[in-house]
Amino acid sequence: MNLFEVYPLYDVTPVRAEDVYVYDEKEVKYLDLYGGHAVISIGHSHPHFVKKISNQLKQIAFYSNAIQNPLQKELANSIGEQSCLHDYRLFLCSTGAEAIENALKLTSFHTGRKKVIAFKGAFHGRTSAAVAVTDNSAINAPLNSQHEVVFLPFNDKKALERELATETYCAVIFETIQGVGGLDEPTEDFVYAMESLCNTHGTCLIADEVQSGFGRSGTFFAYQKYQIAPHVITMAKGMGNGFPIGGILVHPEIKAKYGMLGTTFGGSHLACSASLAVLDILKKDRLQEKTKDLENYFRTKAKEISQIKKIKGRGLMLGIEFDFEVASLRKSLIYDHHIFTGGSSNKYLIRILPPLTVQESHFDVFFNALKIALKKNNKNL
Ligand SMILES: Cc1ncc(COP(=O)(O)O)c(C=O)c1O
Repeated sequence: MNLFEVYPLYDVTPVRAEDVYVYDEKEVKYLDLYGGHAVISIGHSHPHFVKKISNQLKQIAFYSNAIQNPLQKELANSIGEQSCLHDYRLFLCSTGAEAIENALKLTSFHTGRKKVIAFKGAFHGRTSAAVAVTDNSAINAPLNSQHEVVFLPFNDKKALERELATETYCAVIFETIQGVGGLDEPTEDFVYAMESLCNTHGTCLIADEVQSGFGRSGTFFAYQKYQIAPHVITMAKGMGNGFPIGGILVHPEIKAKYGMLGTTFGGSHLACSASLAVLDILKKDRLQEKTKDLENYFRTKAKEISQIKKIKGRGLMLGIEFDFEVASLRKSLIYDHHIFTGGSSNKYLIRILPPLTVQESHFDVFFNALKIALKKNNKNL
């Protein structure tokens, strides 16, 4: 049987990985500055992660959500402690898109409304409502167009006010730092306006932290740079360091009802153990705190390269923008220098989303390689 080919693939076959490196079948070592789409948080196959999952596997891997699972409560407490969101409640699922579906559905239940405001450049996933609030018509099928979504530009307060005043929207959904879109951010002023306009007009605010959450941006959630209280926070990616787990945090104002949300796999014993291992290491190794210095180091090095026109993002969710398309540059980084980086819908931008265990020396390797790749690229232009 052949695979259903939906991905353009690089010709690299990783067979094992350790910390910030992945190794192919010939033991060629690649520096991973992309973390498989921002998923690897505490480093590939971290020994504590492996041990905790292995031990759990020997005990019990899974049972449905019809029984008591104390690991879920332990995970809720640990997320509460590290995010300081003690009053929020946790619902667990398995992926980012599923977290978005649940967040949107919940706000619709809560408000009795069904329209949603999303933003230009947004990416929230590929399932039903998640893809409908994603600003990319190419990945929306006719079926997805049943959702009523209005896309606004970031920072247009007047347009947001005009729409919310109709009091027909269940939610405004935003990424504090856009991931797939290319690291754009709303201004501080607009973030506060979103919160206050949502509160005035009975609309819920959803912070999509699927990519930016779990310490990557320097705060536990990227939106926590500001003093706002979203109704729902979505998370996934770094939460499981490669083990599929996602979830939403729900503001105490939204009340739970039996049957409102549900899942078979979400919150399994194994998934909870994986995420608890991530939180253990985040705390023990102070990975979130370290992102600030690493960002500063990265920015200083990037400024030395004149072809880099803009440095975007925060913490270890970074982008460097050029005035030419970067596809061939990224290819050269992979094939000539064995360094993984990321693209985005902004064709001029390279995304850097390394494991949070990355060190300054890894950035030195990257920038040295980038300088050589840029020379080769300039010759080919
Ligand atoms: C901000 C954001 N939200 C949601 C998703 C969807 O997550 P998943 O691919 O796990 O469904 C992504 C994936 O890239 C994302 O970046």
